[in-house]
Amino acid sequence: KEEIEAPIIIIGSGYGGAVAALRLCEAGKKVIMLEMGMNWGKSGIPYSSMLKPDKSAAWLKNKTIAPFFNIFGLKPFTGVLDRLDFEHINIWIGRGVGGGSLVNGGMAVTPKKNYFEEVFPRLDSEKFYNTYFPRATTELKVNIIREDFLNDCPYYKFTRVGEAEAHKAGFKTIRVPNVYDFNYMEKEYKNEVPRSAFRTEVIYGNNHGKNSLDKTYLQKALDTGNLKIFDLHSVNDIALNDDKSYTLHVNQIDTSGKTIVEKVFHCKKLILAAGTMGTLQLLLKSNAENNLPLHENVGKNWGNNGNFMTGRNWVKPLSGGTGAQQSTIPVGGVDNWDDPKYPFFAEIAPLPMGMDVATALYLQINKVDKKGSVSYKNGKLLLDWNESHTQKMKEHADYFIKKMNKANGGTRAHLLFKNGFGANICYHPLGGCVLGEATNEFGKLKNHDHLFVLDGSLIPGTIGVNPFVTIVAITEYCIENLINQNEFS
Ligand code: FDA
Repeated sequence: KEEIEAPIIIIGSGYGGAVAALRLCEAGKKVIMLEMGMNWGKSGIPYSSMLKPDKSAAWLKNKTIAPFFNIFGLKPFTGVLDRLDFEHINIWIGRGVGGGSLVNGGMAVTPKKNYFEEVFPRLDSEKFYNTYFPRATTELKVNIIREDFLNDCPYYKFTRVGEAEAHKAGFKTIRVPNVYDFNYMEKEYKNEVPRSAFRTEVIYGNNHGKNSLDKTYLQKALDTGNLKIFDLHSVNDIALNDDKSYTLHVNQIDTSGKTIVEKVFHCKKLILAAGTMGTLQLLLKSNAENNLPLHENVGKNWGNNGNFMTGRNWVKPLSGGTGAQQSTIPVGGVDNWDDPKYPFFAEIAPLPMGMDVATALYLQINKVDKKGSVSYKNGKLLLDWNESHTQKMKEHADYFIKKMNKANGGTRAHLLFKNGFGANICYHPLGGCVLGEATNEFGKLKNHDHLFVLDGSLIPGTIGVNPFVTIVAITEYCIENLINQNEFS
């Protein structure tokens, strides 16, 4: 077996991993990053659109797995979108150099300050809102669509209709910032550059326009000359050595998922940034198989960020439908967060099916009043999560849809979901390795001296908005303090 020594290893190249890599590399540290997915930029293989799924569409599956689009006949390939199926919930994740930034809708939302304070009572919120959130949105290149463009562009009819209907039903709406470059989008509308958001590209990757992590944090980290990324390297398990260093058993795979080389990596310092589910899988599996010491809080305080999908089909489309042409980049949301009885945020989501399906789709984000937990048994990750955890969210969705239908006409979206509700759709798994509970105040795992967790698992199951801006801000805060405390010297 090939053996490789490194001072610092980061597992995973999503938000937490990319931020940690940049700040460590800037501090002059040599970093190795292991990512099980492909480096798409380097491969030269294009991402596929939603209407023509191809290589990038699914992680080693013979059919597509995006919600509502199940097309058979794929040749298994290390695509960018993966789905983990549990009994009551399906969790979608991104795989590849850039992690979730490759597949997500790019919605870059800073949480409400009072909710952030409720979720993280021990953090200095002033410092976060003055320093770490602005740092995150600057590095991520967050920008906002021009209202004139939005009002004129046929690809945003779904947003205009969604907002008008929400207002008619008495709801408040907000403009949602994004990392998709809206200057690029205006050019693609005029056909001056290749199309991406207007060509149904998003969940299987964007060939243009989107400032995913490979174009921001990871590129900056690579530019220092201190980062080396090994793609198609899947970490199997972690072992703690007597001298407190770590050994990782890693499979280098080919694009059909077959192991081509088994490798062993050794490191003094290890950062786990494999995403909420990836980090929990590695920790709990390594505990079961290699006796990796774990604090009892690992696996606790997990949540789906209140994700609840719902929608409306119109019997008589009063507003003339949502449009045959739809941008894949959402820019609008219903903000009902201040309602004490039904607090929620609902993204007005596109449904780019290439025809006017007269259907409105919403991804609701609710509070999580009942948290779940994650464990590992018989070689499998187990999630304690069932309908009781989403009951309250369902009541909110029911309230929202009924109010919208009463004001605007339409029916619950029976075409998209069984009973009209998608309780089982989760894009935002969070928690399980919560900051200050399973880790110290800066992400160092309890019971360890040199193992750090920096990703969505630090957030206790809920943040009230789409989570990546918060993941970036929390990681900026943790890594700055860890570096200042000489944890990587
Ligand atoms: P992230 O999941 O990004 O990265 C982890 C990486 O580790 C992955 O690349 C994975 O392959 C790798 N990995 C895992 N296990 C490994 C192993 N054993 N060995 C090697 N590598 C391993 N959020 C938002 O704020 N706005 C939005 O619009 C959206 N939209 C959205 C749409 C869809 C379809 C999805 C699936 C998700 C979103 N999200 C989102 C959620 C957002 O993308 C998500 O919260 C973050 O990507 C999580 O960042 P992390 O750093 O936690 O890990």
